Order: sequence, then C-alpha cells, then structure tokens
Amino acid sequence: MCSIIGYLGLNQAAPIIVKGLKRMEYRGYDSVGVATFSNNHILVRKGVGKVIEVNKAVRLDELSGTVGIGHTRWATHGMVTDTNAHPHPSSTGEIAIVHNGIIENHEELKRELEQKGYAFKSQTDSEVIANLLQYHHDETGDIKQSMTHTVSDLKGSYAFVAVFEDGTLAAARFHEPLIIGIGKEGYFISSDVLGFVEHTDEVIYLDNREFVIINTTGIQIFDFNINPVRHQITKVSKEFADVYKGEYAHFTLKEISEQPTTILNAGNNTKLELDLATDLIRHAKTLYITGSGTSYNAALVAKFLFSKYAKIKIEPIISSEVHFSHDVFEQQSILIALSQSGESADVLEAVNIAKKTGTKIISIVNIMTSSLVHLSSISIGLGCGPEIGVAATKSFTAQLAILYKIADKICNGSTGIDFAKASEAIKKILSDDSKIKEIAKKIRDVSDIYILGRGIHYPIASEASLKLKELTYIHAEGLPGGELKHGPLALMDSNTYVIMINPSDPTYSDTLTSAREIKARGAKVIGVSDKPSDVYDYWIEIPQIDESMYPLVEIIPIQLLAYYAAVEKDTDPDYPRNLAKSVTVK
Ligand code: F6R
Repeated sequence: MCSIIGYLGLNQAAPIIVKGLKRMEYRGYDSVGVATFSNNHILVRKGVGKVIEVNKAVRLDELSGTVGIGHTRWATHGMVTDTNAHPHPSSTGEIAIVHNGIIENHEELKRELEQKGYAFKSQTDSEVIANLLQYHHDETGDIKQSMTHTVSDLKGSYAFVAVFEDGTLAAARFHEPLIIGIGKEGYFISSDVLGFVEHTDEVIYLDNREFVIINTTGIQIFDFNINPVRHQITKVSKEFADVYKGEYAHFTLKEISEQPTTILNAGNNTKLELDLATDLIRHAKTLYITGSGTSYNAALVAKFLFSKYAKIKIEPIISSEVHFSHDVFEQQSILIALSQSGESADVLEAVNIAKKTGTKIISIVNIMTSSLVHLSSISIGLGCGPEIGVAATKSFTAQLAILYKIADKICNGSTGIDFAKASEAIKKILSDDSKIKEIAKKIRDVSDIYILGRGIHYPIASEASLKLKELTYIHAEGLPGGELKHGPLALMDSNTYVIMINPSDPTYSDTLTSAREIKARGAKVIGVSDKPSDVYDYWIEIPQIDESMYPLVEIIPIQLLAYYAAVEKDTDPDYPRNLAKSVTVK
C-alpha cells in the first residue's frame, strides 16, 4: 500500500528519492516524506498531500546527503497528518524508518518501550520500529544485532528501511515486497522496481524473512537467523521502464488507450504456462476462481465464459470471503487467482487457505515477480505493462483476454473470439469519443447511476459501476437487468441515470424491456449498444461484432465515460481519494 525507498550512493539522495516516490505514488498518496543522512545527522521533512504538493511546500528534494529514505503513505493506523507521515525518527533521532505493512503487536511493544524511556509522537504502528531499533542498538551497539532482535520482536507484515546515524541503510522484508537495485552510482532498496528502474535494471529480490545492510563498502544480506544469504542479480524487463504518460493527460487515459494492443499481447510471454494451465483446468475435479475488486469482476465473467463455451463449471469466490467460506476446497481442486499486482493481501490469504488443502494454484497476474507468483504452481502473465492509474483498466481486459484464450482452447476454438477483430472494435470506440465526452458533462453532477446488464454483461455492469465510483465519486451500482423490478425500480426518477449494456445477443430484447420500464419512471437511459433505439436518451455506439466478443469491448466506453466525468469534476483520475493500487493489508 505504502511505497518505501532507500538510496545510498555517489549522488544527492533526496532528488533521486523524490523522483522514485512520484513513480510509486500509485501505492498510496495521502502523505509523503524523506529523511537523509547529512553531516552525521538525520534530517527529516514530511507532510500531507501528494509528492508534488509536499515537495513544493517543504522542498523534500533539497535535503542534503548521499544516503536517504522516503515514503508515500496510505493511512492504516492514525489519521492523515504531518506527524503520522513517514519517515519516523526514533525518540533520540539517531535512526529513522519508513514502513509498509502493519505491525500487529505495536501497542504492546509501544508500552514496553515507553516504560524503558523511549518517547512516541505519532499514532502510527510504524513508529514502534524506529524505537525498537533504537532500543536494540542502544543495547548491542551493532546494526546487524539490532535488526535481528527487532524483526524477532515484530508481529504482522512489513517491509521497512532504516537509516542509521552512521549513514548505514538497513531493510527487512516479511510478507511485503522489497527489492534491491544495484546501480553504477549507488544502491537502491524499494517496494517496487518502478522506484529506481530509470537508474538500473539490475535487481535482487529479497525473500521473505531476510534483511539487508547497505553501506559504502557494499551490501550484505542475511536471513532472520543471521545466516548470510547469497542471491542472483537479475535483470528486470524493459517494460517496467515504460512509466511515462507521454502525450496523454493522465496514466488512466493512456492505459485505456493501450487496450487494442494489450488484449492481443495478453499471455503471450507465458504461452507454455497457458497450455499447462488449460490442461489442468480441463481435468480439474472442482474449479474455483478468486480475486478482489476488478479482478473479481473478471472472475465473474469467467463463470459465464467457461460454462457457455468450455462447458466447465467454475465457482467464483471473492478473495476476502474465502476465510469465511468453510471447507470449499478439496484435495484435487484447482484455484485460479486473478490479480494485477499479485500482492493483494486478500488474494494471498485465499491462496494460502486453498493451498493447505492441497489445491493447486494457477495465477493470472501482471507482476511476475510478485508474492502470488511464488505461491502458484503455474502463473500466466497479463503482459500489459505497468498499470499506474489506480483504477484497473487494461489489466481487466488483459485478464478477460487470458480467460477467453483458456476457454477457447478447451472448446477447440469454437468460442468465436477473434482478438484482431475485438482490437479493431476497441480502436474504433477510442477513435471517436466525442459523444462520450458530452455524456460525461451530463452525468458529472448526478448523485446515482445504475448500470444494468444481463448474463455475461452483468459482471461488466459491476465493473462499470466500480470504475464510475472510483473515478467520479458518484454512487454507482451494477445490477443484473432482471433484478430491477424486484426492488431497485423504486429508486428510479427523473434524477436517475441508467446505463444499459445492451449489445445484440440473446440478452438484447429483455434488456430493452428493462430500459422501457426505467424510461416510464422518468429516468434517463444511456444505451451501450451496436443498435440504436428510441428508448435511449443517449446512445453510445459500439461496433457490431460476434456476440462472444462484446464483454471485452463494451467496458471501454464506460471506462472512458468514468475518466471524462472525473476530468469534468476536476478530480484526479489517476489517484482517486482514499484508494491505493496495491492493497497489501487486510
Ligand atoms: C479497481 C481496482 C481494485 C483492484 C483490487 C484487486 O479499479 O483497481 O478493485 O482490482 O484491489 O487488486 P489486484 O488485482 O492487484 O489484486
């Protein structure tokens, strides 16, 4: 959720750190801070707001020193305040830390440390790490010892980086990502390669329960029992470097616009894995699919796709609900886990529960170095490049594309899916979005939007509502069309907008009937369809294609609608309030 970064090298640390934080801001962005080691002291600047705002206010990038740490926060413990922003210094100010994760036993540790005379300023769980390190350093006088004692005291999940008053960096990983970058002019340590990829593509992925000590003589890695550890240096893929908006006003628009290509590329780097996974799925005794948010909506599409074309039953389960769904998995079950980040705590928990029963895990994931990949028997890569916009767009259609590929393989190519045609249809929608921009102006001030779809279009309606909520802050609800008359019709009046997902397929006439029922109550109807109708107040035209492909295509105009409505409302489409891209806490 939060992003953390450390740098030690030949150059001034603060500007490098601030730039890295800007790139990782998608992970959390309610406050930001930097600490550097300079003239034998640790200097800290921090504040509430996005990197650009706080930097303007307190000039984070002007802190001096060639060693430093930085953080962008997504609040879990304690309000969004300057004091709660990281880095947190220890009470003597000799150590400062940045932390991502949750320290579950922070209250008890805090009480013990307070009794020993260590003072706390913030309401965060993270500050305890700074004082714990300080306490163990005071006791042992040794950084390695203080790291190992500290990690053995902490309960929860964490990655943290600490700067010590002799200019040493130390960092530990326990169930949160942490990656070392080896550059020609310095070392980096970060929660995401995006934090430093412009400086080096040579990285070491720390394993769980490992810590690293970085100083001017080099890096030393240990496990939590202080055994030295050696790791291969690996090169990260060039695609990670593609994190510029280019000509686009926002990452979200750029990523929406990439979809004609990303649906074609989905899974192409892992063709063998796709074949192996298909084989497992074809022969599975019981089949489940899980994900959170957008990824769960893709799981719902899979249910329809697999039953219609592959004639296979698959049960979608929301990842955060797996814990409460008793004994679903059996010895020979297969669980497909969908996740853009591969780091969502809920998804990882679901996978761990399933694994205990001997269930095999197939993951469909964008970040191929993520924790989810390590937990899976087979991983298929979305291959859609970094998705920076917090709201998932291209990763959703890439997930769908892979699910289509699996279904198509199982039914020997009889789904009717033609990715080249779907790609052309998406291009056509993107090439003329003037009508969508007009409708965005109409909906910018409405308080409720309903999105209706039947059959396979219901999960798309659900995904459409998620995009509208996240980007526009308008209340939006996706409903199966037939459910309207069982309650929600009571909400329809002249202030309500309803989007009907209504391509020409067997759901068409029933959805049109629902549209007429809505219209009769005075609500405004927006039709997303290849066919016009007098019932639509506004018609968003989508190209006519084989019915199998509509789900992949019909979400695009609604992503655009949500994006343009956000721009109309002057909210930031890339960084919706209160959200973070990678939800690594439960
Ligand atoms: C919605 C969105 C979230 C994520 C969810 C799961 O636009 O981005 O709902 O889909 O947090 O994230 P991943 O797919 O990374 O596990």
